[in-house]
Amino acid sequence: MVTDCVLGLKAESFTDEPSPIMGYIKAILHMPWPSIIYLMIANFLPSIRLFYKMRLIPLPMEHYFVNLMQTAIDARQQQLAVGKQFDRGDFLDYILQLGSKKNLDTRQLTAHIMTFLLDGFETTATVLSQVLLLLGRDEQVQQRLREEIEAHLSDKGIIEFERLNELPFLDACIHETLRLFPLFVARKLCTEPIELPNKKGESFVVERGTTVIVPHCCFMLDEEYFPDPQAFNPERFMQPDAVKMFREQGVFNGFGDGPRICIGMRFALIQIKAAIIEVLTKFNIRLNPKTRKDILYEPLAFVTTLKGGIWLDFEERQ
Ligand code: HEM
Repeated sequence: MVTDCVLGLKAESFTDEPSPIMGYIKAILHMPWPSIIYLMIANFLPSIRLFYKMRLIPLPMEHYFVNLMQTAIDARQQQLAVGKQFDRGDFLDYILQLGSKKNLDTRQLTAHIMTFLLDGFETTATVLSQVLLLLGRDEQVQQRLREEIEAHLSDKGIIEFERLNELPFLDACIHETLRLFPLFVARKLCTEPIELPNKKGESFVVERGTTVIVPHCCFMLDEEYFPDPQAFNPERFMQPDAVKMFREQGVFNGFGDGPRICIGMRFALIQIKAAIIEVLTKFNIRLNPKTRKDILYEPLAFVTTLKGGIWLDFEERQ
């Protein structure tokens, strides 16, 4: 879905001959040690990039993506040449229009597209697998969610796109999953000095140019706000506007916050909801004994994942 919506390319993921793009994106996300260490240092000390720039994407991969981008641009421009307007409404349409306004070359366009591909690919898939994991662990919650979904199915056995947002328990299950598997930290560069009040003493001034690491996982697993924080309890998100309330308290940042909040939030939520509805109406999900019972994160993963992986059994429903 991501390659289709971003570049207009079918990744053919469910065929025997998937496009290599999936493999390349996965390879980029599984960085070697030196690149991870370099990125960690650069987070604390952004100026290191002025003295030493490390290649984070191997050259053959860069060539692959730049060529892919050029092919996609050529294909769109051929459409234009035969009088077709930009009308697909995908990210490539948008970025091409931006590129012609701002005079961006193929490499710069590729960079923007890469951000979108990388941010949009593993994240959604991982969160989807985590929702299924937590549903597999809790049969009661799974059944309650299935009942909510079935009550909204149309005569055709589907839920209309417009009605996807009318399923509060589904929403709550997804947000509770994001709380339990949060993006570890956010990194921000302070652009204006700000005084932060401190309940226990003198307030603290963050100077301009300071790199700030926001430890999302600490807030989202804080028992002051989320009693029994390790428990999967979607009820926490059932009161109206719970997400907004927690976000305003600064304790729920599943998609970040502020002007740089995740640009793909709605896209991701729609994909996850559609997939869960499809799976839950057709299968019972059970935990495979290979899956661990607690929530221990994989320490080296780019996106928060369960150590040892998630193994589930899908039992077809009659
Ligand atoms: C459930 C899946 C997803 C999660 C949990 C997630 C989470 C996040 C988070 C926490 C941020 C950082 C926000 C901040 O710094 O305050 C972010 C940024 C971003 N996300 Fe997502 N994301 C998801 C899916 C997607 C998808 C599907 C796309 C695009 C197709 C996407 C594109 C982006 C982009 C481009 C940014 C950078 C925004 C900016 O810096 O202005 N994300 N995301």
